[in-house]
Formats: sequence, C-alpha cells, structure tokens
Amino acid sequence: MDIQWYPGHMTKAKRQMTEDVKLVDLVIELLDARVPFSSRNPDIDTLAKNKARIIILNKSDLADEAQNRAWKDHFEKTGIHVLMADARKANTFRALSSIVTEACREKIERDARKGIKNRPIRAMVVGIPNVGKSTFINSYAGKAVAKTGNTPGVTKGRQWIRLGKNLELLDTPGILWPKFEDQTVGEHLALIGSVNDNILDIAELSVVLIAFLKEYYPGVLNDRYELDETKERAEILYDIGVRRGCLVRGSGISYEKAAKALLDDFRSGKLGRITLERP
Ligand code: G4P
Repeated sequence: MDIQWYPGHMTKAKRQMTEDVKLVDLVIELLDARVPFSSRNPDIDTLAKNKARIIILNKSDLADEAQNRAWKDHFEKTGIHVLMADARKANTFRALSSIVTEACREKIERDARKGIKNRPIRAMVVGIPNVGKSTFINSYAGKAVAKTGNTPGVTKGRQWIRLGKNLELLDTPGILWPKFEDQTVGEHLALIGSVNDNILDIAELSVVLIAFLKEYYPGVLNDRYELDETKERAEILYDIGVRRGCLVRGSGISYEKAAKALLDDFRSGKLGRITLERP
C-alpha cells in the first residue's frame, strides 16, 4: 500500500518548529494512544534535545485501557513524563499542571538558585497531523486567563496562551510527520483515519483490521456483526457487508461500502476501545 504525504509541507513545518522550540522550556508531544509507535516521529528526540519533555497519550478514550497503562509504563521507563488524555475534556489541564511541575523541576530549581521566582514555564505542543493538537490548544485557550501579548525581541510575533502564573503555551503547534518507510506504520495511521481515505484501497485496509481483530480482540467482530470469526478475512468482510446492508444490484455486496462501514465503526469507537500497537 503506497501512502504519500507532501515533502514540501514537511520541510517547512520542520523549519518552523526548529525555530519555535528555541523559545520553550518544555515540549509536550501528543501521540495517538491507539498507535503510540506509529504516531511518533523520532526526529523529536533531536529537536527537543535539552528540553523538558512530556508525552500525552491522547485519544486514550478510544484506546484499550490495559494498553494505555502499558505504554505509559514504557515511556516512563525512558524518563519521559506521561499523561493519558482526552484533549476535549477540561480535566486534562488540571492533570497536566502537576506533571509540568515534575517535568520542569530542574529548571524551577535552577531559577530558584538564581533568585528567579515564579517565572512561567514556556511550553509548546507538537505532534503529527490529526493527533489532537488544535483541540488541545483550543481547550487550553478556553481556560486561559489571558492571551499574553507579544514581547518584542523575545517572542518574534508568537502568541502565548497563559494558564495561571506558572505556564505559558505557544498558540501554534509544531507539526511533525510520521515515518512512512515502514508499511505497517502507514497502515496503522490509515486505520485511525489520519490519512485521506481517497488515496487508499480501503477494502485492503479493512482486511488488515479484520486480521488484527481476530488475533488480538477475539469476539469483537462477532459482538458487533454477529458473524463467524473463524472464516477467512475476505469472507468476514462479505458478512459485514451483508449485515450492514451494503448490497449491490443483482447479487453480492459492495466490498468498498462494507470496508467503510467497518472502518467507521472502528474509528468512532463502536467496536470498543482498541489499541493497534503493543510496546
Ligand atoms: P490536529 O490539530 O493535531 O491536526 O488535530 P485536531 O485537534 O484537529 O483533532 C483531530 C480530531 O480528533 C478532531 O475531530 C478532534 O475532535 C478529535 N480529538 C482530539 N482529541 C481527541 C481525544 O482525546 N479523543 C477523541 N475521541 N477525539 C479527539 P474532528 O475535528 O471532529 O474531526 P473528525 O472527528 O470529524 O474527523
């Protein structure tokens, strides 16, 4: 399956982020909790070198709870603080505050030794497209005491959103691109809907999902569509088409419509909370 994104956009976004990251103390990296591996861009380790780091496992409401915990443990072992979140919910921010203090403890202590008190932590949000960056920043902005003005010479026209007196967030996120060299990464991002369906063979993609569900979440397909999971993948797709009324004139079903029905159910959480990757 050949999935292409646009190198021109990537280069521009990366250049912008390289500049923006110089302005912050803390980098908040959003990952999609259903695909924490595939939604991660390894360049971030270089880009955010010497910065405090937090990973937010976003859309954790759609991911498997046991796997959320496993991924949290996994990243924490590498020394990065982790928050499981639903960026649409207000409580995300309360939970974030205490983690920010922990992640930035060194800087806060360094400031204190220099006699600097209550200088706000400056943070930026980064992540691949569709992971929830704007949602996160917008909910943050909604809670914000005030949008801070520009500080000439320091912020170079960048806007900061202030929350309390301890934290300021850059109002534009850093956009990263996933690594598509690995076919599985491309498939997983396509499955969660991060790639335009028009450029995909969605029947092929849905068969990948069926195989995964049969192995890792037995019973899920049967619960939703009342079908025999021991059948071949293509037969299962056919049965889904029948159950969901994806019939075509004459005889048989439209595999494309059946695939779309399955992918919609998966993406909207109707199949339950499912994580496609294990740490
Ligand atoms: P981006 O800036 O990183 O590109 O992502 P954005 O905030 O635009 O979010 C992409 C979609 O994901 C949005 O749906 C948003 O509501 C949804 N979303 C963000 N965070 C969460 C979360 O924690 N849980 C869930 N379930 N959804 C989340 P949208 O704009 O409605 O797009 P669509 O759903 O219509 O495709």
